[in-house]
Amino acid sequence: MAILITGGAGYIGSHTCLELLNIGYEVVVVDNLSNSNKESLDRVDKITGKHIQFYNIDLLDRENLEAVFMENKIDAVIHFAGFKAVGESVELPLSYYQNNITGTIILCQVMQKYNVKKMVFSSSATVYSPTTSGAISEDSPLGATNPYGRTKLMIEEILRDLYVSDNSWSISLLRYFNPVGSHISGRIGEDPNGIPNNLTPYITQVAVGKLNQLRIFGDDYPTSDGTGVRDYIHVVDLAKGHLKAIDKVMIVTGVEAYNLGTGKGYSVLEMVHAFEQTSGKSIPYIIVDRRPGDVAVCYADSSKAKRELGWVAERGIEEMCADAWRWQLNNPNGYHDVEDKVIIGQGS
Ligand code: NAD
Ligand code: UFG
Repeated sequence: MAILITGGAGYIGSHTCLELLNIGYEVVVVDNLSNSNKESLDRVDKITGKHIQFYNIDLLDRENLEAVFMENKIDAVIHFAGFKAVGESVELPLSYYQNNITGTIILCQVMQKYNVKKMVFSSSATVYSPTTSGAISEDSPLGATNPYGRTKLMIEEILRDLYVSDNSWSISLLRYFNPVGSHISGRIGEDPNGIPNNLTPYITQVAVGKLNQLRIFGDDYPTSDGTGVRDYIHVVDLAKGHLKAIDKVMIVTGVEAYNLGTGKGYSVLEMVHAFEQTSGKSIPYIIVDRRPGDVAVCYADSSKAKRELGWVAERGIEEMCADAWRWQLNNPNGYHDVEDKVIIGQGS
């Protein structure tokens, strides 16, 4: 069975390709490498001993996208491709709407034409209203606060409308909380361009000496230590969630949203201390003003994914930190490091 992965060379996509190959799927990737490096897929090939069919194509390029569907018998699509930086989306809203929304519409039109109507879509916890308190369930109020979040919310609506128009579609909307960590091999991982926006890559780059100190955005939130609380989820658990969602879309039609999180929140300082413990490195930090748009607390109620997909996150915070650190240590410059270091006993 062949799965088309859009954005498969990226952080979550490459980890998902690996898990799919490991359980015997054929994997076809479409990625324009706008925020990734083909080396990630070459390494997945080496780790798994299998081969990914790769197309360097932009989703907006309908003609070449159609050729992928003509050349391969695609059974389902996992749609990761999109821009994802919240701050950048405020600066460049039209690029975000064009890339994320138009890209999705073209993909769906091509899928429809080739009668492929099973999709797993990368949504985000950012679709929930920031006023929500406590564990966030799929029924919590929605309401994104920036263009990036609005693209996710709008795409969810577009996919729901698509199903209403044609009940033979089968779509899972996976709302990720905060993906961190990397594959245990330390050979694939998160490779942000420039200075990282997100907490974990920032911490690992301080630990490896690329950045001087972490700036903690606010210590006056109503949380146990005043710093923001998030539901960090190991990227391998997240990747495995996609396998469960694929199983589901193969057998039922409809559109369903699922939260993928651990249900447990950790503060920024708890993450820093956990990382110091696993890495043995100290992480110097300063407290600065709150980052505009940040909420105090955000964690998932993932009971629906457990109930309906049979999925739960298995990896804890130590594993998240240890794996993020192994990747960073082996690849201080991400995929720009030419050498693919294989650690004996942790190959796959
Ligand atoms: P990523 O940037 O590493 O991966 C996205 C991939 O899509 C990249 O390889 C990029 O080159 C590709 N891409 C972008 N636009 C494209 C286009 N028009 N045509 C072809 N390829 C294109 O991001 P990620 O962290 O792996 O995230 C994957 C998905 O999950 C994204 O949709 C993102 O919005 C969503 N998501 C991510 C997070 C997170 O914190 N990482 C959280 C919630 C949701
Ligand atoms: N933080 C710092 N310093 C930093 C970076 C982050 O203190 O340098 C803090 C933030 O204030 C927040 C926490 O660390 O309290 C996590 O911040 P991230 O930027 O890592 O993650 P966010 O929760 O802000 O957002 C992430 C993705 C969004 C996605 C959301 C929900 O960036 O795209 O998770 O899935 F929508």
